[in-house]
Amino acid sequence: MRILVRIVGAVCAALLSVCGPSTAAAQKVALTPPMGWNSWNFFNGKVTDKDIRDTADLLVSTGMRDAGYVFVNIDDTWEGERDAQGRITSNSKFPDMKALSEYIHSKGLKLGIYSSPGATTCARYPGSLGHEDQDAQTYADWGIDYLKYDLCSYGGVMRQQAPNDPAAQAKLMIAAYEKMHQALLKTGRPIVYSLCQYGFNEVWKWGPSVGANLWRTTGDIQANFDRMMLIGRAQAGLAKYAGPGHWNDPDMLEVGNGKMTHNQNAAHMSLWAILAAPLIAGNNLNQMTPDTTAILTNKDVIAIDQDSLGRQGDRVYSEGPMEIWTKPLSGGRTAIGIFNFGETATEIGLHFKDLGLKGKSQPVTSGRQRIWVRSATDGIPPSRTAQWCC
Ligand code: GAL
Repeated sequence: MRILVRIVGAVCAALLSVCGPSTAAAQKVALTPPMGWNSWNFFNGKVTDKDIRDTADLLVSTGMRDAGYVFVNIDDTWEGERDAQGRITSNSKFPDMKALSEYIHSKGLKLGIYSSPGATTCARYPGSLGHEDQDAQTYADWGIDYLKYDLCSYGGVMRQQAPNDPAAQAKLMIAAYEKMHQALLKTGRPIVYSLCQYGFNEVWKWGPSVGANLWRTTGDIQANFDRMMLIGRAQAGLAKYAGPGHWNDPDMLEVGNGKMTHNQNAAHMSLWAILAAPLIAGNNLNQMTPDTTAILTNKDVIAIDQDSLGRQGDRVYSEGPMEIWTKPLSGGRTAIGIFNFGETATEIGLHFKDLGLKGKSQPVTSGRQRIWVRSATDGIPPSRTAQWCC
């Protein structure tokens, strides 16, 4: 049994939702994949207090906050010296973290920050090694709601303490992430805990045990289609490790950065939604085109990512550049992502069996359109051949 879908255009993605079984689960923070914005992908090491405030204003005025993007995350390069008591301070780019956090909160947004279990961060600013409790408390005092904790120079500590012993190195790494987890717990403030160690040692298997709400599964994303798709497609098989409160993170969005086309950006956003990935935008909101805004705030796509069932999707079919991914949704529905990663238009049959669907017909929602699609085999023609173009 199959539904015929004609994918027109070069790179394209079509998202559908149809019926299937459901369950529920609950945890305290990050019940659905965190949504927000992070400074690294666009501002890199140049980010300032003003950039963060401007971004907060724009998240509100562009409708992104209301679409769900509530975290405003300062990545690396905010850190200053430690004071006489060993407390971390912010550098001259961020004159007053507490005031900044109050500003962010006054906009109905939340503030995120970045550190490392090593002595220095990847951009060589002070990390938290030996100051975990103190730093967690400082973040809580500032009103921080989210911490991205990046392995960086701690890799050197691991190699130094356990030379040529990968298993012992992994233990050290896990203990370092657990240390900050305990430090965050002691503050009593709910802080989303985001692990960044590029997927080493199958982090998806132990991330939840160190309190992680999300963990990076790969190296860094870049604002080009090849890198984005390589990372996205490599998520196949990881679905079972994600769920409410703990998510696989294939890295932040590059929608609106670099030279990706509309189709490529739409495919990026669609795949991340099927993956129940954290949706952390990384573009410059000051220069956001209407097209970028439309892709980032597409309610139907966001609803698939944020679905309350909290299940990550997986690949169910692939042939050459064509891939089909499905994601179980609440209410017994299934999201179907149809991706053409190739450069020419092509036609694809959706086999009910591959999609875990039964019967001769299924109600389908595609974008705003609601249609019924019947099985194309057994002599029954499809009631409609849906056409999506990009
Ligand atoms: C990398 C990380 C990036 C960014 C950068 C900052 O390790 O993967 O997302 O945080 O460090 O130095």
